[in-house]
Amino acid sequence: MAEHLTVGRVAELAGVSVRTLHHYDEIGLVRPSARTAAGYRAYLADDVERLREVLAYRRLGFGLREIADLVDDPAADAVGHLHRLRGLLLEQRDRAAAMVTAIDRELEARAMGIRTTPEDQLKVFGAQLYEVIGSAYPATRRTESRIAERIWAALGDARTVLNVGAGTGSYEPPDRDVTAVEPSAVMRAQRPDGAAPCVAASAESLPFEDRSFDAAMAVSTVHHWPDPVAGLREMRRVARRVVVFTYDASTTGWRDRFWLTRDYLPEFADLLAGWPSLTDMTRAIGGRAEPVLVPWDCTDGFFEAHWRRPEAYLDEQVRRAVSVWTRVGPRAERRAVERLRADLASGRWAERNRDLLDLDAAELGLRLLIA
Ligand SMILES: C[S@@+](CC[C@H](N)C(=O)[O-])C[C@H]1O[C@@H](n2cnc3c(N)ncnc32)[C@H](O)[C@@H]1O
Repeated sequence: MAEHLTVGRVAELAGVSVRTLHHYDEIGLVRPSARTAAGYRAYLADDVERLREVLAYRRLGFGLREIADLVDDPAADAVGHLHRLRGLLLEQRDRAAAMVTAIDRELEARAMGIRTTPEDQLKVFGAQLYEVIGSAYPATRRTESRIAERIWAALGDARTVLNVGAGTGSYEPPDRDVTAVEPSAVMRAQRPDGAAPCVAASAESLPFEDRSFDAAMAVSTVHHWPDPVAGLREMRRVARRVVVFTYDASTTGWRDRFWLTRDYLPEFADLLAGWPSLTDMTRAIGGRAEPVLVPWDCTDGFFEAHWRRPEAYLDEQVRRAVSVWTRVGPRAERRAVERLRADLASGRWAERNRDLLDLDAAELGLRLLIA
C-alpha cells in the first residue's frame, strides 16, 4: 500500500462519505495522522487498520461510543479484533438463516390459512440457529455406536467429562460423571429424562475453574461456534484431556470428496470460508487428528451420513436435522434436491457414483482430535 492515503481515496475505497470520515476525525475515533505534501490530512497504515475495525463494527450495528470502547480495548490487538469481528459476522449470518427459516414457516402456515401466535412472530427476532432448527434434531440425530466407541476410547480413564455443545446428549458416555454445556434452550429442553445435568453456556466462555474435569469432549459442534479457536482453548483450560469430533475443511480435496457438495451443493464452500484449519484446531488443544470413516449405514443423520443412501437427502426430515441445509438458504437447497431427484430417477447418480456401492465406510473429512 502507498505510504499514505488521502481522505478522498479512503472514502472511495471504503464506500463511505468524506463527511463520515471527517466526523470520525472530529470525535477522535479515527484520526488521519499524516499530511500530504499539499498539507492535507492523510491516513497511514495503522489509521486504516483502525478505520477498518470501526467500519466493520458499525456495519454490525454498534453505536459510535461502543465502538470507541471496542477499538481502544488494550486487551485486543488487530488479530483479536479480526477474530471478534469474524465471530460476530458468523453469528449474524446464522441469525439471518434462522430468520429466513422462521419466515418461510410462517408463509407456509399462512398459505394454509393458519395464523401464527404473537409469541411465535416475535421469537423470530431473537432466533439463534438451534432455537429454530433444534426441534427437528431428535428425528434423525442419535448416537452412532461405532463413532461413540472411538470417542469413548479417546476419553481414556477420565472419570469426570464435560460435554460442550452437548445438544440432546448423543455420545455422552453412560459410565462416567458427565456435565453438559449447551447454549440453546430448545436443545436443552429435548435432553432425555435422566440425561447428565446441563449448564446454559457457550464454549467460548466456560463457567468452570481451570482443570475442573478429567476430560472435555465436543461432538459435531465446533463449526457452530462463533470463535472455534477460543472455544477449543477454553476446553483445554478446564480439562486435562480434550476430544473433539469435527470436520477437516483444510485439505484441498474436500470439495471432491463428497458427491453431494461436488455435484449438487457447491454453496457448501461459502459456509467453510474462514473456517479454522485442522492445524489451527489441533494447535488450540495441543493434540493430534485421526480420520474417522463414515459407515455406509451410519445411524447418526449428520450431513455426510447418507453418502451411500442418496434418496435420504430427498427427505425433508433428514435435511431439517442438519444445519447445512438451513445455512445455504432455501434456494440452493431446493435446486440441489431437485437435481438430485432428477439424477436418481434417470440413473445418472448411480452411473457417476458406481464405485461407492462397494464401500462399507468412506473418508469424508471427519476427524477425531485428541489431546
Ligand atoms: C449439531 S449439534 C451437536 C449436538 C451434539 N453434540 C450431538 O453430537 O448430537 C450442535 C450444537 O452446538 C451448539 N452450539 C452452537 N453454538 C455453540 C457455542 N458457541 N458453544 C457451545 N455449543 C454451541 C448448538 O446449540 C447445538 O446444540
